[in-house]
Amino acid sequence: MFENKVIYQIYPKSFNDTTGNGYGDINGIIEKLDYIQDLGVDYIWLSPCCMSPQKDNGYDISDYVTIDPLFGTNEDYQRLITQAKARGMKIMMDLVLNHTSSEHEWFKKALQKDPKYYDYYIWQDAPNAIESFFGGSAWTYSKEVGKYYLHLFDSSQPDLNWANPAVRKDIYDMINYWIDKGVEGFRLDVIYLIGKEPDKLITGHGPKFIEYLKELNENTFQDKLLTVGECWGTSLEEQYKMCHDKGLSEAFHFNHFLLNTVDGKDKWHTKELDLKELCDCFDTWQNEYTGVEALVTGSHDAPRMISRWLNDTQYRMQSSKLLITLFGLMAGDLYIYQGEEIGMTNAHWHDINKYNDVETLNAYELLKEQGFDEKTIMEKIAFTSRDNARVPMQWNDTSNAGFTTGNPWLDVVDNYTHVNALRDLTNELGVYKYYQKVIKFRKEHYDWIKQKAKFSEDNGVLKMEKPKFTLVANFTDQKQAHDLGSTGDVLFNNYSKVEKQLMPYQVVVVCNK
Ligand code: NOJ
Repeated sequence: MFENKVIYQIYPKSFNDTTGNGYGDINGIIEKLDYIQDLGVDYIWLSPCCMSPQKDNGYDISDYVTIDPLFGTNEDYQRLITQAKARGMKIMMDLVLNHTSSEHEWFKKALQKDPKYYDYYIWQDAPNAIESFFGGSAWTYSKEVGKYYLHLFDSSQPDLNWANPAVRKDIYDMINYWIDKGVEGFRLDVIYLIGKEPDKLITGHGPKFIEYLKELNENTFQDKLLTVGECWGTSLEEQYKMCHDKGLSEAFHFNHFLLNTVDGKDKWHTKELDLKELCDCFDTWQNEYTGVEALVTGSHDAPRMISRWLNDTQYRMQSSKLLITLFGLMAGDLYIYQGEEIGMTNAHWHDINKYNDVETLNAYELLKEQGFDEKTIMEKIAFTSRDNARVPMQWNDTSNAGFTTGNPWLDVVDNYTHVNALRDLTNELGVYKYYQKVIKFRKEHYDWIKQKAKFSEDNGVLKMEKPKFTLVANFTDQKQAHDLGSTGDVLFNNYSKVEKQLMPYQVVVVCNK
């Protein structure tokens, strides 16, 4: 039911500022709706914009039903829903259900040992070995309570106790409030953590997870809305359990994002992409998985993929086009993160003072404690930090890239003078127009795309063969051989010609004869 959709992710804080306060806002999104619609988008996923102290940029919610004044008002949000709908697009809301902000009323009351709200969170007399995803112990001592509370993320993000039916009921009421307002899709933040059993050291995919998911589904969206769960490193079995029989429509597995990490876990210790591993990953999820894959090339939680996998300077445009051709011609729902469609790159900052992200700042301290020198730490951060993707959208070449007339909350990337939407859109061979072409093709020929594929790698060239077409993509900065032979019609090419050898970062798709 929700297959072959295109979802455009907006990080509201960094999209478009109409007030001059340096933060993007909802009116700024409304102003750009035509730009998004023209790409061929079905859903707009907004990262959280409810009330929040912004310790984790809105993923620390202090009031689930009020829009943060930083971004506008509930009326603005309502207008966004209506105006998007008028253009044939639906709004997908980001639901942060695993934790709240420590400034949420529930947590404040829990700290006062309120008989109802104390049990909304998870307490222990002593910490155990569970670590926070942002580094350090996942337990923080509360003087008021005399116990430790669990926070799988920052200490300002206490985990909710899903074992408590009252928590679940309050959450369902909140989701239904937004459904009544016209929200038509949900992205569920770190949803695989809600079934945790911390006393047994179980965090992800806990024993009651699927039961909770079903109850959530039945009491709220009931399979009628597009829902996507956020998970990391999921197995086929875990994914299947989550995404069928009254669970979610689909889930991010992010297995391909983890290929750059040495042990598949610690994101700060990276290695070069191994194309063979990438092919295996695609093979598993495209051919063995029976559900719908959530195809994702970027998000606010990852550095830009063209900077990690390909080339974001000399071959920036070719690299952007290569990525969208590859992912755009795979089966599933396609997620695009703001800025990809104009070939935005990593910020590559080597000065820690430029960074804002709580995870990055924690990692900086931890890496120092682990004995890494400043230069090495900053190289790691410049490659991996989430702020690489969170920088302001580059609209034009005026100051602050046209994002704000004030001081941006996070610096813009220096290359905005030549990497920006205005310039890209005026170029017939620009990235945006290429994205449009891929999306249009995808919508028209999904029956071709849906077919199983064979993936292989040879000398830095990835090949995807489907019954109707063949794709070859050169992941290197050297010319490489290809075996397309005397080919059929060329469907896509990010260069003007197909020569005997593929050019650096060239992608070619031909119809099979
Ligand atoms: C995943 C979100 O995408 C990320 O930005 C956030 O920091 C964590 N969940 C905690 O909510």
